[in-house]
Amino acid sequence: MQEQQDFGQDPIAVRETDHYKEEYIKGFVSKWDQLIDWNARANSEGDFFIRVLRERGAHKILDVATGTGFHSIRLIEAGFDVVSADGSPEMLARAFENGRKRGHILRTVQADWRWLNRDVHGKYDAVICLGNSFTHLFEERDRRKALAEFYAALRHDGILILDQRNYDSILDHGFSTKHVFYYCGENIRAEPEHMDPGLARFRYTFPDKSVYHLNMFPLRKGYTTRLMHEVGFQTISTYGDFQETYRQDDPDFFIHVAEKQWYDKAEGAHRGPTEAERGGEDSPPEDDLPA
Ligand SMILES: C[S@@+](CC[C@H](N)C(=O)[O-])C[C@H]1O[C@@H](n2cnc3c(N)ncnc32)[C@H](O)[C@@H]1O
Repeated sequence: MQEQQDFGQDPIAVRETDHYKEEYIKGFVSKWDQLIDWNARANSEGDFFIRVLRERGAHKILDVATGTGFHSIRLIEAGFDVVSADGSPEMLARAFENGRKRGHILRTVQADWRWLNRDVHGKYDAVICLGNSFTHLFEERDRRKALAEFYAALRHDGILILDQRNYDSILDHGFSTKHVFYYCGENIRAEPEHMDPGLARFRYTFPDKSVYHLNMFPLRKGYTTRLMHEVGFQTISTYGDFQETYRQDDPDFFIHVAEKQWYDKAEGAHRGPTEAERGGEDSPPEDDLPA
């Protein structure tokens, strides 16, 4: 079992989709989970995801970025039927153990998003990819393939819920103390150490002074929604920090809810709830393209 993260001689040169497994090593994963207070996280999210899923009548959920199981377990406890996938066996083992401690047997599948449907079968009402996970893909072809695999795993009227950090704010205004994030009070400090249009390298400092890093791709909001439209999602609503209106603020996180259901624009037939019914900001297909 790998005990140290390995970014080699030149950490900012590490820009590979496959590197995520070496970043989520046992020490990082277990420390993170001991310190993150699941109740505090549940309080800050409220019932946002549960509400969005219930509003769309979703019951069968595929969590493609299970991590240590936070959302899978919350959704099981809220009565959803959940399958928990992740590319990292380390993460899935931890999630299974976390589920067991709470009296649940998680249905786990180790699957990389780029060939998800090879390992995960059946159709789902919703696919969730949460906790700023999609940022781990470094090549556009990987992002397109992963989104296409998520799309294929959905029923004809299914939804994808995918969140991301607000990298636009850091890329456009540089990083400052505003971009130091504290998890669980001051227990874990997360801050950008390097930013350029192809890399967001974050440093995570723990109370015992141990330090870990993640190298991620800084997704712009408009770029993410454009890719979703291009793989076939018809309507995308974007929320900021679990709020239905965020335009005035500069949220830390964006949450995209992408609907697969095709509708006739002229007749307005077969479509889901309107923007006004949902709250949130709708992105038209060509909206907000990256510069
Ligand atoms: C930041 S963690 C988030 C975990 C969890 N959703 C949460 O919010 O606590 C990102 C997760 O995505 C998984 N991941 C990253 N790239 C992946 C890929 N290409 N295929 C499958 N899983 C991947 C990692 O193994 C990790 O568990």
